[in-house]
Amino acid sequence: MHKSFFIETYGCQMNVADSELVTGLLTSHGYVPAERMESADAIFVNTCAIREHAEEKVHSRLGVFHKIKRERPNVLIGVLGCMAQNLKNDLLENKPYVDVILGPDSYRDLPEILSRGNAQKHIVDTKLSRFEVYDDLFPSRNEGINAWISIMRGCDKFCTFCIVPFTRGRERSRRVESIVREARKAITDGFVEITLLGQNVNSYHAEDQSFPDLLAAVAEIPGLRRLRYTSPHPQDITMELIEVMGAYDTICNSIHFPLQSGSDRILKRMNRSYTRDHFLKMADVLRTRLPGIGISTDIIVGFPGESENDFQDTLSVMESIQFDSAYTFKYSPRPYTKAAEYDDQIPEALKSERLDQLIALQKKHTLERNQAHVGSIEKVLVEKESKRSPDQWAGRTDSNKWVIFNKEETRIRDIIDVKIIGATGVTLHGQVV
Ligand code: SAH
Ligand code: SF4
Ligand code: F3S
Repeated sequence: MHKSFFIETYGCQMNVADSELVTGLLTSHGYVPAERMESADAIFVNTCAIREHAEEKVHSRLGVFHKIKRERPNVLIGVLGCMAQNLKNDLLENKPYVDVILGPDSYRDLPEILSRGNAQKHIVDTKLSRFEVYDDLFPSRNEGINAWISIMRGCDKFCTFCIVPFTRGRERSRRVESIVREARKAITDGFVEITLLGQNVNSYHAEDQSFPDLLAAVAEIPGLRRLRYTSPHPQDITMELIEVMGAYDTICNSIHFPLQSGSDRILKRMNRSYTRDHFLKMADVLRTRLPGIGISTDIIVGFPGESENDFQDTLSVMESIQFDSAYTFKYSPRPYTKAAEYDDQIPEALKSERLDQLIALQKKHTLERNQAHVGSIEKVLVEKESKRSPDQWAGRTDSNKWVIFNKEETRIRDIIDVKIIGATGVTLHGQVV
């Protein structure tokens, strides 16, 4: 019997939410989370396959687990999540110390697998489901301010660079009622902020309810202070969504608006289904209809065939929108995806050069956007102690910017007025009003 377990999590918030789901499932069957990996009877790694670097990280962790397995042969090692699907053959052939491999739709089997002990080795289930949304399971959340709630699973967009449709399978949504039930429970448990999660939240569709309907239903739950969501697809941001965002104080004034590229030719090759023009127009509508909105983005450089002109097109979209922040990536070819087959891959050195330019430009924009807040008063949710000093809090504005300020008489979970007195790099500095 494996009584205690430890889960290490890589990848996006959806993996974080899935690890909480697995923890909830296992604890409800009598298993206990271990404080440290070294003392756990079962060790799981919840994996990400989005870029090669993410996979390398997991491989290096597996080396550590291998060592633990040599010292304690009875420990069970399990690989969960997005890499399971992708690497099951490699893991089976080259990593015999891995006992269990489960894809993102197979977590229900875990308690049963653990109860079998070590009798049966190498359990592999990476089948993807058209229906599994883990509707009836309650996650065991890490303590904190924010509760992640997964509203849908999978993705049907098939952007040509992206492995997610292959690792997580077809898109499917949970019912509004079940999401609202989970949100109410999270609030009763002391969470003040909820973030709704999906690879493609505005494709949400359940029993004739759309994403704006769901957002409104959650926003109305008594006791909820802040509601966020991630990520929407730029193609499907509707006026209805923007109206709902504006109509509820609980819905935060920020949006993740992933550009990927500013070149129409590259967007088309990426199968992103919007144009540069549409993107610019929507950014304009967002800033006009929701004044002060924080806009973050994702950008890929060095997608196959990206010319200097295409890259300049991306920089020029950044110049005209001035994102508040950006996650920037070098294109990484992924198995099964269409773009990995393109024969005009960009040399690594050129990708790095472009990435450096892009990061430098974004740094400038982030600083300028932050400096524009100096002198203003922001509503800040107190979230945690600042890493710099025990006398200071760190909290976020409605528009998703971190602010550091002296604690004064305030407490974690308070929403307070903070006057912004300075901006450095990615953070703001403030004073409680
Ligand atoms: N569903 C989300 C994206 C999830 S993946 C969306 O559509 O916005 C998060 C980000 O990783 C993507 O937005 C993209 O910028 C980046 N990414 C995905 N696949 C990649 C790859 N093969 N190489 C580099 N970056 C990639
Ligand atoms: Fe990947 Fe595109 Fe789906 Fe996002 S929308 S998860 S980038 S395929
Ligand atoms: Fe990674 Fe899977 Fe998320 S590939 S980014 S953990 S959906």
